[in-house]
Amino acid sequence: MDFKDAILLLHPVIVVTIVFPLMGLIANRGLRVRQRRLQLASGYKSKVSPVVGQEHVQTGHWLTGAVVGATLIALANDIFGKVIGEQLWNTNSFQVGFIVLLFGATIASVALLYQAQQIKWKATFAILAGMGLVILGCQDGVYRKTDQWYTSHYYYGIAASLLMIFSLSILKSIYQDRTQRWRTVHIVVGSAVALLFLGQAITGTRALLEVPLSWQESYIQKLYELQCDAKPCTVQSAPRTP
Ligand code: HEM
Ligand code: HEM
Repeated sequence: MDFKDAILLLHPVIVVTIVFPLMGLIANRGLRVRQRRLQLASGYKSKVSPVVGQEHVQTGHWLTGAVVGATLIALANDIFGKVIGEQLWNTNSFQVGFIVLLFGATIASVALLYQAQQIKWKATFAILAGMGLVILGCQDGVYRKTDQWYTSHYYYGIAASLLMIFSLSILKSIYQDRTQRWRTVHIVVGSAVALLFLGQAITGTRALLEVPLSWQESYIQKLYELQCDAKPCTVQSAPRTP
């Protein structure tokens, strides 16, 4: 395994060791927050500790950072793999500069979203961070599988990251809204994220099987060319190179 392969593994390793355990923790704490709230509302004394709310929110902060970070690492691996492979800075240095700037701006927007207190700034930085992810995802080298979007690791991943950013930005509204509408929105979004993570576990494991190790790349490319000589090729049958 050479350096390129090790970099490729960075994203799955972070997801498996940090993101998924945090997701388990956050779902558990979220259910306990709900249990406590419903018990108190119906006049019972709850045995659930009042600190579960704080623990849930704290875990939410970590999870959002971990998901967005893991997504940025995967996108960087795809995009810079292409930039380095084609030595793009010789032919299109503007595009390379733009990509670097975009990564910086996206990371800065997420950092500022954590700091923002007023709704207008939360909305601004959430939109900027989301736009950054979407524009980065549109760059060459990212394996999007658009014609199979319903099983695409990319689309599920970007959707999960955007929903996490959204969850972070509505944090205060959940507490302030007396009608509990934002709480309901939050539960729907949280459940969608949980389902998307399940999808990511499946499509991510498939992605690991699809990306050839460096030493396998030339053989896979040859096989692909042979196969395309025999019958027309589709985007899906193209080798997925990191
Ligand atoms: C992504 C997975 C998540 C799931 C499945 C989830 C689930 C839940 C659930 C079930 C509740 C209880 C709702 C109720 O009282 O009926 C809750 C409350 C809450 N969640 Fe989440 N949540 C997630 C992520 C987040 C994130 C990322 C944040 C923000 C950092 C967050 C902030 C909150 C807040 C502020 C509350 C109210 C806590 C309280 O009343 O003390 N959640 N969540
Ligand atoms: C929260 C969960 C996850 C998110 C948000 C996420 C997001 C992403 C995104 C946006 C990409 C770039 C697009 C692409 O190349 O398809 C990607 C690539 C990839 N993911 Fe994930 N992923 C998650 C979980 C996983 C898991 C569980 C695995 C494997 C066990 C995995 C393995 C990979 C691999 C091998 C790639 C391609 C190589 C790379 O671009 O670095 N992912 N992921």
